[in-house]
Amino acid sequence: MNAVTETRVRAIVQSAEAEHDLRTAFAGASSYEIGIVRGRLADHAPDRLSPQDVLIVDVDLNSRADMAALERLLAGEARPTVIVTSAAPASVDAMRRLIRLGVADYVPQPIVQEDVLAVLRAVRARLRGESGASQTACQVMSFVRRSGGMGATSLAIETAFELSRTRRGQPRHRVCLVDLDFQGGSAWLHLDAEPLLDIGEIVRSPHRLDSKLLAAMTTRHPAGFDLIAAPNGSINPDSVPGDVVGHLMALACESYDCVVVDLPLGWTHWYADILAGSNRVLLVLQLTVVAAKQAHLFLDQLKRSSAAGTPVSVVLNRYRRSWFRSGLKVREVEKALGHKIDHFITSDYRLFSAAANHGMPAAKFRSGTRTEKQIAKMARGAAGGAGA
Ligand SMILES: Nc1ncnc2c1ncn2[C@@H]1O[C@H](COP(=O)(O)OP(=O)(O)O)[C@@H](O)[C@H]1O
Ligand SMILES: [Mg+2]
Repeated sequence: MNAVTETRVRAIVQSAEAEHDLRTAFAGASSYEIGIVRGRLADHAPDRLSPQDVLIVDVDLNSRADMAALERLLAGEARPTVIVTSAAPASVDAMRRLIRLGVADYVPQPIVQEDVLAVLRAVRARLRGESGASQTACQVMSFVRRSGGMGATSLAIETAFELSRTRRGQPRHRVCLVDLDFQGGSAWLHLDAEPLLDIGEIVRSPHRLDSKLLAAMTTRHPAGFDLIAAPNGSINPDSVPGDVVGHLMALACESYDCVVVDLPLGWTHWYADILAGSNRVLLVLQLTVVAAKQAHLFLDQLKRSSAAGTPVSVVLNRYRRSWFRSGLKVREVEKALGHKIDHFITSDYRLFSAAANHGMPAAKFRSGTRTEKQIAKMARGAAGGAGA
């Protein structure tokens, strides 16, 4: 290798087309040295790879043999940096599985030069950043509510802000708030930010969605975190294909340490997939009988879905101490819910409305408040390793 050649790329591909497209893609890319073999991963043990090498493997996402070979490869001592490519479109399920296995990235076929080089640049930058530093997986926290006005968006914003704050002696966490309510999302309104996500364009040309395009559609908020949000009325969330939402989430996870998700009200066809891919679901409600009943139904639905394994925290927002003395007791609500209330967030109307008027998180608008402490505890707890 000469001084310019920093990365050795090895590829195991199944078709002549994939081989041809890869050779074309790397033809003029002088900072890579490429070696390609044809065949299936199961039949070709990759040659010895150094930590800065990248392996591209062509797998059939529906083939047990291919997926098992991939799992073996990633479970082994060497744990190479693997980019998966596949001839068939990847479903949300497949994408999730790839993330869980610890794949570095995914490139669809036919392989497009721009795509694969952009992915490699991102992977290489990450490898450089990580050498020496310990790798922490992206933490995904999803905020849900069963009726409007519970404060889910507000708490998602406060959580993103809290997690993005630097703590003494700790590296700064890269945090993104992703608003998946493509129709009526209000995070950008709360934050007085420009909603740059052109979800309609992504749905029309899903193959164009890569980390570069997503970065161009991401808003940087002066509070210290990023926002991915679409203008109101963009598209009915249910009409966005699940693999598009899954790909968007996977890309966000690659670029950030923490992803805070604000979900739409309705149970869209990809809703359970997002929750299943989350490290924690935060269910926000207020202390009313209807809210408790709705939350109970939601917990039931969740248990019957593919997201049954994701831990849930119940957050009681706009809580007032005096409610203890009024008719509806917290314990009664917990009984109706079949779940304990994990976090209480005090009602502070003046603070939240003033913060929204200034387009900033409440904790940035005024620090040292009771809600700030309560939210910090909730956020740090939910983020586990990444936020602790
Ligand atoms: N803890 C709180 N105390 C006072 N007002 C709050 C609190 N949390 C949220 N709000 C206010 O409640 C309203 C609805 O909040 P929002 O986050 O948009 O709810 P949702 O996303 O559940 O529909 C907003 O005006 C917000 O400022
Ligand atoms: Mg909302």
